[in-house]
Amino acid sequence: MLMASLSPILATTIFAISLFSLTPSLVLASKPCHFPAIFNFGDSNSDTGGLSAAFGQAGPPNGESFFGGPAGRYSDGRLVIDFIAQSLGLPYLSAFLDSVGTNFTHGANFATAGSTIRPQNTTLHQSGFSPISLNVQYYEFHDFLVRSQVVRKRGGVYETLLPKEEDFSNALYTFDIGQNDLTAGYFSNMSTEEVKAYVPDVLNQFQTIIQYIYGQGGRYFWIHNTGPVGCLPYVMERIPVLAGQIDENGCASPFNEVAQFFNLGLKKTVEQLRRDLPLAAITYVDVYSLKYSLISQGRKHGFTQPLRTCCGHGGKYNYNKNLGCGGKISKHGKEVLVGAPCKDPSTYVNWDGVHFTQAANQYIFEHIVNGSFSDPPIPLNMACQRKGN
Ligand SMILES: *[C@@H]1O[C@H](CO)[C@@H](O)[C@H](O)[C@H]1NC(C)=O
Ligand SMILES: *[C@@H]1O[C@H](CO)[C@@H](O)[C@H](O)[C@H]1NC(C)=O
Ligand SMILES: *[C@@H]1O[C@H](CO)[C@@H](O)[C@H](O)[C@H]1NC(C)=O
Ligand SMILES: *[C@@H]1O[C@H](CO)[C@@H](O)[C@H](O)[C@H]1NC(C)=O
Repeated sequence: MLMASLSPILATTIFAISLFSLTPSLVLASKPCHFPAIFNFGDSNSDTGGLSAAFGQAGPPNGESFFGGPAGRYSDGRLVIDFIAQSLGLPYLSAFLDSVGTNFTHGANFATAGSTIRPQNTTLHQSGFSPISLNVQYYEFHDFLVRSQVVRKRGGVYETLLPKEEDFSNALYTFDIGQNDLTAGYFSNMSTEEVKAYVPDVLNQFQTIIQYIYGQGGRYFWIHNTGPVGCLPYVMERIPVLAGQIDENGCASPFNEVAQFFNLGLKKTVEQLRRDLPLAAITYVDVYSLKYSLISQGRKHGFTQPLRTCCGHGGKYNYNKNLGCGGKISKHGKEVLVGAPCKDPSTYVNWDGVHFTQAANQYIFEHIVNGSFSDPPIPLNMACQRKGN
């Protein structure tokens, strides 16, 4: 045998060398990543104040369960992105568009409520979709990347408000966007087939943005798929014909099928990106399954109201698109709040017909953080690892 003919010293050396070559990957595999910053892109699922800064504050009772009042979020409290930041030991993200009291040392949030991946050809006033589509969020990010470094060089307070240059390549880039691209078609009276037909274009534009960010040095990507939009009152109420096709959990199947069609494409897009961007670690997170199970199994976890909104007024789902959460009417010359919140938002999945309650967001976070809904199945704090490492 070859080993027998080697001198003990040589054998030990070989053993030591092979141990050495093993050690780095073993150490890497178990050591948590250090993300000094988060840069987030998305829609209302992760907007921490962008739309509010530019188009008017998300009014009360938003924020009542945690922030003690409006805090730029469409929820009674924290969003999944807030729990993500907190668990990585970082402060809640300031919205890039917010010019008051913001601190970008540990990242910035480019998401705005109503954002789509593809730019829409309608105004916010006409259709409710934000002009800050994903390409615009990228322009903002690029501007931030370049100018934050120029301004940081002035020293003083700027050094304590802006990220370091190297933080951009070590940061976690998070995405939760696409839901509004799907509803945009439906809301302009397209059929399910017509919506499906443009999904490849939406995914293509998403792919381009990830490539751009990689081109600027971004390496770690955490991508949420889109949720079961057919379980949300604002979709079910607005398109009653399709909403008639209800599944066993009370959700409108056509919309959920389109969401799953989008997610299948998104997963393939992520696989293509992994091939094209060899230095990137890209985690695909299946929030769809989790949100759907929250609606179908929520009662087991204390969510006694899976579909009805906590804060709203009237109708089958306590939702009225003309008189939403916080909505008031004038009665005998007096303003009366009719879009009032429920007593205990923690027993509801849905906050206002469109968005999730803080309790639901926390539930979602707690189930995604350990990687059990991720591809690859690694925890959030390991999301700097490339698949296969
Ligand atoms: C907006 O209009 C342009 C030019 O006609 C078109 O290429 C694009 O697909 C439209 N966008 C959407 C979201 O419909
Ligand atoms: C901004 O936040 C960082 C980290 O939380 C902190 O160290 C810094 O002092 C803050 N800057 C200002 C001006 O408050
Ligand atoms: C969609 O159809 C409804 C009912 O026919 C109509 O009132 C609405 O204006 C249409 N919307 C668009 C964007 O075409
Ligand atoms: C992940 O966390 C959830 C919620 O705490 C738990 O139910 C699940 O079993 C965990 N999965 C793994 C793989 O640890």
